[in-house]
This record gives sequence, C-alpha cells and structure tokens, in this order.
Amino acid sequence: MTDELTPVLTANWADERAWKLTNYERRGGYQALRKALSTTPADVMELVKDSGLRGRGGAGFPTGMKWSFVPKDNPNPKYLVVNADESEPGTCKDMPLMMASPHTLVEGVIIASYAIGCRYAFIYCRGEVLHIIRRLQQAVREAYSAGYAGKNILGSGYDVEVVVHAGAGAYICGEETALLDSLEGRRGQPRLRPPFPAVAGLYASPTVVNNVETIASVPSIIDRGAAWFASMGTEKSKGMTIYSLSGHVKRPGQFEAPLGVTLRQLLELSGGMREGHELKFWTPGGSSTPILTAEHLDLPLDYEGMAAAGTMLGTKALQCFDETTSVVRTTLRWIEFYKHESCGKCTPCREGNWWLVQLLKKFEAGQAQQGDVEKLLDIADDIGGRSFCALADGAVACLTSAIKHFRDEFEQGMHIPAWELFPYERSALF
Ligand code: NAI
Repeated sequence: MTDELTPVLTANWADERAWKLTNYERRGGYQALRKALSTTPADVMELVKDSGLRGRGGAGFPTGMKWSFVPKDNPNPKYLVVNADESEPGTCKDMPLMMASPHTLVEGVIIASYAIGCRYAFIYCRGEVLHIIRRLQQAVREAYSAGYAGKNILGSGYDVEVVVHAGAGAYICGEETALLDSLEGRRGQPRLRPPFPAVAGLYASPTVVNNVETIASVPSIIDRGAAWFASMGTEKSKGMTIYSLSGHVKRPGQFEAPLGVTLRQLLELSGGMREGHELKFWTPGGSSTPILTAEHLDLPLDYEGMAAAGTMLGTKALQCFDETTSVVRTTLRWIEFYKHESCGKCTPCREGNWWLVQLLKKFEAGQAQQGDVEKLLDIADDIGGRSFCALADGAVACLTSAIKHFRDEFEQGMHIPAWELFPYERSALF
C-alpha cells in the first residue's frame, strides 16, 4: 500500500477466479517452484534465512532458523505442517488468503517441503470453514495434475504428498502441539515444550509447523530474492504482511503493508473510525495481545515496536473500538471465549478463566465489591505464565491491559446498582 513494493500476497485477490491454477500461472505462479527445484534445498533455506522472514502466526519466530533446526541425521521422516487453524478473535488474514489464492500457499508448501527434505506435508485447516477446505483440496488436486505435487515434481526427482486435513473446530488446535495431537487422531491438547516440533513433532518426528501467511510468503521470496523482501519493513521486522482491521472502522478488511506501518496509516486506508466517533482502544494482534489506546496510534506495527509498548504484534488483527464500547463488557466477552476454549488440561487456565468470568459478570452488573479489581489481577497472576501453552497468557493479557488503561471503568462497576448502569435491564432484575 504505502510502498511501491506491495501488494504481493494480496495482488491477485481481485482477479477473476484467482483461485484457478491457470489464472495463478498467468501471473507467474509456480515459477518460484521451478527456480527452487533448480537449486539445492540448502540454498532455498539460506535464501529464506537471509530474507529475514519471521513467522506470521503471531510469535514472529525466524522462519529460516526454524527450518534449520530440523536435524539432518534423524532417520525418521520429516514433516511440514501448515497451521491453517486461524481462530484468534479478530484475525482474518489466512482464511481470505486461502480462499482467494490457494495456490500461493500450495506453491509455498512444496518449496518449503523441498527445503527441509520433507515428503509428506499437511495443511491443517479449521473444520468449520468447509468452503475453504474444498477450495484447498481443489487447488491441491490441480497442483497434482499439473505435476507440481506428487511424484517427480517437474522432472526433478523430488516427491512430496500434500494432504489437506480438516480439524474439528477447537481454538486450542491452533496451538502447534495440540494441532499435532489432533492430526495424529487424538484429543487436541498442548504438549510440553521442549522438545519443540522441529525436533520431535508429528509422530515424534522432526516437524516444521508454520502459519499459512508465512508459507505463502515463500514463493515471492524465491522469485524476487531475499534482498527485495528485506528491503521492506523495519530493521528486525522485514517484509510485507497482511493486517486485518475490524470493529468500528468504516471499511473493515485485510490490508497488506510493510511491517512497521502505523495504525493511523491503516485507518486512513480503511476510511477511519465510523462517522462522529473516536478510537477508544484497540488490539494489535487479536484479543491475546494487550490492548492499546489512541495514544499509541503512531507506533510502528512491527515486533519490536509493539514489544516496546508492552504488547505484541501477534496476528496483526487490529480490532478498533470507539468510545461507545464498554471495556469491561468487551473484556468479559473475550474471557468468556477463552473459558469456553480452554482445553482443560491445566488447572490455572481451566479454573482461572471460569473464576474471571464470574467476577467480571459482577463488574458488568455493577455489583463488584471493593478489592475486586485486585482480585481480578490476583487471579490473572495465577493464570499467566503458569500453564502449558500460550492460551492462558493470551487470556489474561487483555484483562490486565484493560485494567491498566481503564481502571476507572472497572471501579465504576462497584457498588452501583445495576439499573443505574443498564436501566433497560431493570425489569429483568426484579
Ligand atoms: P512461541 O514463541 O513459543 O513459538 C513460536 C514458534 O517458534 C513455534 O513454532 C515454536 O516451535 C518455535 N520455537 C520457539 N523456540 C524454539 C526453539 N528453541 N527451538 C525450536 N523451535 C522453537 O509461540 P507459540 O506459543 O507457538 O505461539 C504463540 C503465538 O500464537 C502468540 O504470539 C499469538 O499471537 C499467536 N496466536 C495465534 C493464533 C492464530 O489464530 N493465528 C491464535 C492464538 C495465538
């Protein structure tokens, strides 16, 4: 957007039937695969390392480095698993990508598989999105028929099988080790790490788990070079990415831009906040990342900029709320989501989120007591950092940051009769 170098990932989204192989090829699709197969796997890995590409699923781990963790001397098969279980509230970048341009992902899968020496690649997709699963399956079938997947790809002697797997609709299965359990046919619950999947993942074999957007970024890097990719973004957060804007903005949607763009710039593209209203608070990466306020509009949306502001870039899901929104009610809705989605494996997450919901309901009804804000923080402290996976940390991040920025709103929910806050609910109370 703000740069002549973008859009890349979204460039063909508006094309007529962009998802068809012929239309993808017309724009140079699968040329990157040809190029990759003409070099060695080590060259491909090196190129991705040099590009500075970092994981787009939320954590921002360097992709090339993750690939290089796959042990070469391990006799077990190596696997690539694409995490297409996008479920973070407000996050809607991978689904549209797979719907509009599934071949970008399939091409990336084959190149990445080649780089890590994998012969079985899986795309694990949320079970609820049947239309996307069908589209991916169709794209994989097309890739097989054209000789881009399967045996002896483009005459190179390299084979890889690509399988699209439908999950059963659980947020926790987006956590990489729960995803692997689910893929193995078990109930999806996180495993203790280390060992990380790169060393012992699917069927206890070396497995690279990468997000959809991460893998979809690979063909353009092979095609245009590491320096091209690294010329976008900031010093440590390279390249372009897809931001999803939602909430009280005039034109919600996906916006591709180099890392380091600001929310103010993205709001300009989305027409700003709805008429007559102002931004009150927002999330940089969905509800798992600490919220920010209008004061933070000019911070660079990259990994370092967000960390310096005490939050995380996460999935780049910018949920924008105006002054009509109750921060208490929003936090309650988010925590209800985490309570519902907790897999129940560890006590702090399973029990703690339940308690938070009970307490937040009291705040919402104006029935909280003196000391209940401290109690919320105390419970949050017992959850964050004390569970197997990041779900629990994400759950409390929205709450503790909401209290940090809007403590007065929580305090207003104390000792105030509910009917004074919500007069329309009075009849329901008696
Ligand atoms: P993490 O930082 O623990 O790991 C990130 C990746 O790096 C993983 O693939 C992990 O295996 C790898 N890794 C880290 N250290 C390693 C090492 N020493 N050796 C080998 N590999 C290593 O983050 P995690 O817990 O995997 O994910 C948390 C993120 O997920 C959050 O930032 C959140 O924003 C995001 N998230 C995304 C959702 C979505 O729908 N896309 C949903 C919920 C959370």
